Amino acid sequence: MLVPMRTRQKILLRALEGKVCAPPPIWLMRQAGRYLPEYRALRGRAGDFLSLCLTSELAVEATLQPIRRFGFDAAILFSDILVVPHGLGQRVWFEEGAGPRLEPIRACAQLDDLSLDAMAEALAPVYESVRCLRADLPQEVALIGFAGAPWTVASYMIEGATSRDFATAKAWAYGAPEDFERLIALLVEATSRHLIAQIEAGAEVVQLFDSWAGVWPERALRRWCLAPTSRIVRRLKAAYPQVPVIVFPRGAGVLYEAYARESGADALSLDTTVPLDWARERLQGRVCLQGNLDPLTIVAGGAAMRDEAAAILDALGRGPFVFNLGHGITPEAPPEHVGALIEQVLAWRP
Ligand code: CP3
Repeated sequence: MLVPMRTRQKILLRALEGKVCAPPPIWLMRQAGRYLPEYRALRGRAGDFLSLCLTSELAVEATLQPIRRFGFDAAILFSDILVVPHGLGQRVWFEEGAGPRLEPIRACAQLDDLSLDAMAEALAPVYESVRCLRADLPQEVALIGFAGAPWTVASYMIEGATSRDFATAKAWAYGAPEDFERLIALLVEATSRHLIAQIEAGAEVVQLFDSWAGVWPERALRRWCLAPTSRIVRRLKAAYPQVPVIVFPRGAGVLYEAYARESGADALSLDTTVPLDWARERLQGRVCLQGNLDPLTIVAGGAAMRDEAAAILDALGRGPFVFNLGHGITPEAPPEHVGALIEQVLAWRP
């Protein structure tokens, strides 16, 4: 069934139900962020990044900025995947220009210092932001909540920062899998609770970001990424079967097919490297697809952006589809190029 343009009322929800929408809904990963001058001004007022995430009034404002400027079909809560380790009691901070920093967990005994009990209270401002957003957003715009998937969050908890090779985290997983499983199990529980709290506060869709799924061989990816993700999806579906779940196993390659068959997700967010015809043939019959424009084409703009976006629309737009990027937008992206991209997507017809 084709949903026509004039019913763009929460069109993201229609696509995630498996309907073909022409033109498709559009939102962009990291649509609130440093490429927007109004975000940089807000960030300057907040001081540090974690305070921005944990001060509802500011997080709501950051969420709304790209909606006001561009009128995306969905707003994604402004927060970060690392609020979960913060909520569990790990020390998390963001260094200017250096990205996230955490007091690294290097031994199983340190897991005893983490606690689920205080998390709901520590993250109460996040849920308050969701409640305010549901009240403040234009009613046609859907609200997305999110969390990091257990492996990606664990990698930051163990490495203490973004890593090039994940040597410490992988050595732990290979060398002491029962200990590593304890951390993953804790994160399955924490992440499920965090997403359920967002749904109860008003999130209409949730997305799980597994940004570093692509560093594992098959068996480990199934154990440390697909299985914990599937456990979370089952938990969410048991509590809120009607709330769609989008999973982003970045770099999973041909194992995207295992996610389509086994994860229980309603939609898969494709990274930039996933071939379009393969995705249509192997995945789109089972799940809605989201993606996967290379964010760097937005920096370039012009024909490079236009041709890539057109190829994606032509390959995936005739099935259940949400236009998005293959990873987060970068700080160098000119906002005018984002405006041109939205116009192109809204002008597309099958
Ligand atoms: O999409 C959105 O607009 C919602 C907000 C959002 C942020 N982070 C805000 C943010 C979301 C969904 C995230 C997810 C996130 N955070 C992921 C998964 C997606 C991905 O990009 O792979 C990861 C791995 C993180 C951890 C994280 N947070 C890193 C590695 C960094 C530093 C990198 C960078 O861009 O500076 C952050 C900081 C961060 N999170 C910023 C924003 C807007 C920039 C902070 C700033 O203002 O200085």
